[in-house]
Amino acid sequence: MRGRIPDSFIDELLARVDIVDVIERRVPLKKAGREWTACCPFHDERTPSFYVSPAKQFFHCFGCGAHGSAIKFLMDYERLEFPDAVEELAQSVGLQVPHEGGRDERPREDRSELYALLDAAARWYQEQLPKSAQAQAYCERRGLDADTIARFRLGWAPAGFDGVIKTLGTGERRLQLLDEAGLLARGERGSRYDRFRERLMFPILDRRGRVIAFGGRIISAPPAQAVDEAAPAPAPTQDARKSDGPKYLNSPETPLFHKGRELFALWQVRQANASLDRIVVVEGYMDAIALHQAGLPIAVATLGTATTPEHTETLFRTAPDVVFCFDGDRAGRAAAWKALEASLPRLRDGRQAYFLFLPEGEDPDSLVRKEGRDGFEQRLGKALPLSDYFFAELARDVDTASLDGRARLAERARPLIARLPDGAFRELMAAELERRTGAQALSPPAANGRAAARPVAVQRSLVRSAIALLLAQPELAAEVPLSHDFRQLQRPGVALLAELIALARARPGIRPASLVEHFAGREEYAALQKLLATSLVGEPETQRREFFDALARMAQQAKDQRRAELEHLAKQGGLSEDQKTELRALLAARAQVTPAA
Ligand code: UTP
Ligand code: MN
Repeated sequence: MRGRIPDSFIDELLARVDIVDVIERRVPLKKAGREWTACCPFHDERTPSFYVSPAKQFFHCFGCGAHGSAIKFLMDYERLEFPDAVEELAQSVGLQVPHEGGRDERPREDRSELYALLDAAARWYQEQLPKSAQAQAYCERRGLDADTIARFRLGWAPAGFDGVIKTLGTGERRLQLLDEAGLLARGERGSRYDRFRERLMFPILDRRGRVIAFGGRIISAPPAQAVDEAAPAPAPTQDARKSDGPKYLNSPETPLFHKGRELFALWQVRQANASLDRIVVVEGYMDAIALHQAGLPIAVATLGTATTPEHTETLFRTAPDVVFCFDGDRAGRAAAWKALEASLPRLRDGRQAYFLFLPEGEDPDSLVRKEGRDGFEQRLGKALPLSDYFFAELARDVDTASLDGRARLAERARPLIARLPDGAFRELMAAELERRTGAQALSPPAANGRAAARPVAVQRSLVRSAIALLLAQPELAAEVPLSHDFRQLQRPGVALLAELIALARARPGIRPASLVEHFAGREEYAALQKLLATSLVGEPETQRREFFDALARMAQQAKDQRRAELEHLAKQGGLSEDQKTELRALLAARAQVTPAA
């Protein structure tokens, strides 16, 4: 399956990336001795049993057994196929994935047609805009200038049920792709028709500026509907005609579009700024656009969903300061709190979140038009730091003058503060809680808190132990003498151990997870991953001793095997002179090792 990506590249890649970094970007980790831990992202749990080892470049969950390299983590977490996980990792460290041979016989899912089709759709909608007087009047009413319309690629989906289908859906294959791209809706009897009709179209671009979805806004039309140039097609169902639908209609989730991950206008923000100190998150498409047009190309919008941890990670990677801007009403406050919760685990030192609440009845679009760029910037400057908003919100309905009230505040704040990554900010928040309530925010770490999560020693054979210990520290291979007698032992796994030693010797500095990746596609792969997991947590010096001890015992067992074999032969009277000498030596050695026997 992976044959096309050379092994040496997988080595290089795994040597280049740091698994802690890869995982930390997706799951907040806490330092625990040599390892990092978290609540496992692959199963539900309250106490962390998910460990990441920087030395071994391996993760393992003692709760559900999930384990593997950085590549495996991406495959499981992002649900990627192997080549895609490699691609993603390579991109993150600026490496180009080489492919051996010519074209893949079994090409991986090729999305280029889908992207091309979405782009063609965006272009077609763009072309329709100047043709519709109604749509143009609407843009004018909203104060959208030509440059903004072009920069955001705004368009118009005309009336009729088959404008897109007729233009782009020529042939069953393309119809199928239109459907996959989320551009079609289905009637009761399965008939397909254009999803977006009579809407102002806002293309949603991904991080690379490719169109992946659309939002479409109805424009309140005059009672006598202006008929568009596209001839109205017969409606597939009565229902489809009945109502105008929601104010904004968005593309459904598609293979390319996950709204909890995307931010509207992020592409335009990145295009307009080489680097950014601050990024502003607003709720609406029009809000983001209005800020850009007003000379603040630092605004993005969530897509009609709550702010997710994936959003916040993207935001903080774009700028160290993130200002969340919400309506002052109840819905706005609820949304702000969600954004706060999504930010907490991402607030490493150096990152700051702010909250800006707008006066009732206003949104960023209306405000920036009234107050201009400077007025809005002043508001941004006065946004509440997360810590202020945090304590104000938690103390909202508690009487902090009373002991009870302060206890309640502490109770609410503690679990949230615990979600902050280790660092100065977390300590400041804990100190602030203590100042306000007199209660300690973070319980001192239990002396043996970590021991509890450790696995019970796994009972396993000598050979398996040796393999696990070698995987934990491949550098030990260099110290195993080529003549070491463990190789004579006839047991399952010995050949594999020898192969691993040879491999690790040939690649000084190879890391555990890379060593295991060499066996991807082989029968032993799964077993090796499990074995590496079992040795994930442990003292290197102890493991080293155990490894050489295991080899010595294997060598001894090899001798015992050989002695038994020669004794068996001797009974049948078939020993050569050499074999007799060998047996005498073996018997003597045995007497020395185990005098009692
Ligand atoms: P708003 O209605 O506040 O948007 O909804 P807005 O941008 O201010 O709208 P107008 O054009 O100025 O009236 C905020 C966001 O919520 C999502 C959209 O992403 C919108 O931009 N939304 C809203 C929907 O997805 N569907 C809806 O029906 C309404
Ligand atoms: Mn608005």
